[in-house]
Amino acid sequence: MAARAAEGGKVGYFVREIERNDGSTLRIQQCSEGDVGCVVWDAAIVLCKYLETKAFWEPAAGRNEWLQKRVVELGAGTGAAGLMAASLGARVTLTDLPELQHLLHLNMEENRSLVTQGDVRAGELTWGADVTEFQPEPDFILMADCIYYEQSVGPLLKTLRDLAGPHTCVICCYERRTVGRNPAVEQTFFELLLQDFECHEIPLEQQDPEFSSPDIRILHICRKP
Ligand SMILES: C[S@@+](CC[C@H](N)C(=O)[O-])C[C@H]1O[C@@H](n2cnc3c(N)ncnc32)[C@H](O)[C@@H]1O
Repeated sequence: MAARAAEGGKVGYFVREIERNDGSTLRIQQCSEGDVGCVVWDAAIVLCKYLETKAFWEPAAGRNEWLQKRVVELGAGTGAAGLMAASLGARVTLTDLPELQHLLHLNMEENRSLVTQGDVRAGELTWGADVTEFQPEPDFILMADCIYYEQSVGPLLKTLRDLAGPHTCVICCYERRTVGRNPAVEQTFFELLLQDFECHEIPLEQQDPEFSSPDIRILHICRKP
């Protein structure tokens, strides 16, 4: 991870800018100290830019699928994807482990001026724990780069089962990694997921033309009828 701030091992912050299609910019603070959630992963950028595609948002036609929609982001890390949804008009709850809450709050404040029609808050959610605080069922659940850790596959799926209702669309974006246990973790996740959910992959042509990549997948996941 990025170097610590030079003086006295202090925690340093460094900004990742994500330009929106209207020319405004999300400024996402990343932290030099901490676990994987402290930086913006490529899958989060790809997901951010997908949220702005015409699948959801066509300003010229006056169409905005995000307006006032209830969105919960799981494993939000810096909160980039959820903040993009909030800036497009959604009512977003960013969730992650307790130790990521400070970064989520920092980024909510940093980007508050872009959240004009929607709103954003943050909450602690460890996968597998009680989700009552985040109900009723959201319209969308966002997940960027959350399929990577063997022990958390079961708890993550429990959270999806507990939180997703019959009309919830889970938008899952993740980078396919071929090293180590990654392929096995991915396989286990999808074997278990498909017991209760259906998956539809978004082709590259329907993603942002610049911010997309063959090794980063975007899936729409919904409960089986
Ligand atoms: C690879 S990072 C992705 C962060 C962010 N979504 C992004 O793409 O930039 C995985 C995230 O999942 C969170 N996470 C891992 N295990 C978790 C668990 N058991 N409960 C809740 N969040 C968890 C981590 O704290 C981290 O923020």
